[in-house]
Amino acid sequence: MRILLGITGGIAAYKAANLIRAFSEQGHSVQALPTQNALRFIGKATLEALSGAAIDNDMYQDVHEVRHVELGANADLIVVAPATANFLAKLANGIADDLLMNAILASTSEIYVCPAMHTEMWQNPATQANVATLRSRGIKVMEPASGRLTGTDTGPGRLPETEEIVSFVMGKKPLSGMTVTVTAGGTREPIDQVRYIGNSSSGRMGIAIATAYRDAGASVRLVACNIELPMPAGIEVIRASSVADLEQTMDKPCDIMVMAAAVSDFRIDKPFEGKLPRGEARTMSLIPTKDLIADFAANNPATFCVAFALTEDGADVEAISKLKLVNKNVSAVAGNNISSLGSEISEITLV
Ligand SMILES: Cc1cc2nc3c(=O)[nH]c(=O)nc-3n(C[C@H](O)[C@H](O)[C@H](O)COP(=O)(O)O)c2cc1C
Repeated sequence: MRILLGITGGIAAYKAANLIRAFSEQGHSVQALPTQNALRFIGKATLEALSGAAIDNDMYQDVHEVRHVELGANADLIVVAPATANFLAKLANGIADDLLMNAILASTSEIYVCPAMHTEMWQNPATQANVATLRSRGIKVMEPASGRLTGTDTGPGRLPETEEIVSFVMGKKPLSGMTVTVTAGGTREPIDQVRYIGNSSSGRMGIAIATAYRDAGASVRLVACNIELPMPAGIEVIRASSVADLEQTMDKPCDIMVMAAAVSDFRIDKPFEGKLPRGEARTMSLIPTKDLIADFAANNPATFCVAFALTEDGADVEAISKLKLVNKNVSAVAGNNISSLGSEISEITLV
């Protein structure tokens, strides 16, 4: 895995050296990215030698490489250890005033944060509020250990031991070792070479599901049908457009298949050549497409298959979903309403 290790300016910054070594020994590649203040506590030479990668935390260096986006986009996961109170406050408020903050804000990877500071700083309501904000956004914030701090004082605020941080980040997750395919977005069936029958599915739901599976430790393939949104890191993305394209991507066995894509129920029998000119009326024959999830479930009885049921306003979502569960012979059906198409928030009935 490619790990971006952010190091901020606390007394425990020197412990980042052990962390680089521990991640590297597990076969991960580590890109260390210290803040300017972190470099007051640990030397760049140490970090470069241990990580085997040059370090340049100047945001305005090699601008043509757009590193502030590249660093985050290239990381499968981001770990910040130690994380100062200052860092927590900046991340909670989306402040992007150095390369580390920009890389994190520009990334869709999972983020693990390991705070370390004096007990009073850790317990300060401002810090606690920032931690709560970060956790509410899905950022994994580790509890600091209790013990000896910078001076003679003791209490919660110590950076946990290297092994504890490694298992916090890499620890066995519930779906470790499982393979998951998620289809997302909406298919397009050609009418002629420029026009198509499509739908308004944005792909947000499928992306969110794929990201949740990734975070639970699964190895995820996302089949993206005509999605304009940015793709999450740490996920294999395959593009598809028509139902036929989508079917071709579904030839790989997997433990879980989630059919979140809005798949066209019909296709044009014979798409027209070139671009149809305006003028005379045309007649098109719509023929039903194959029910891909029912077909996949029949051919892969060991796979946990999830179908979706998009229902009209006022329809009995649960009853329709239960019917689909039986008709398609799948493991689960997620029923939702037409009003959720393209929306950021969606209510699901799972049967
Ligand atoms: C000797 C010393 C030790 C410090 N240790 C910590 C610490 O453990 N945790 C912390 O949050 N801040 C600590 N600070 C304060 C940070 O260095 C300061 O908030 C700085 O702005 C953090 O910058 P950064 O978050 O950009 O790296 C310490 C400062 C000094 C002078």
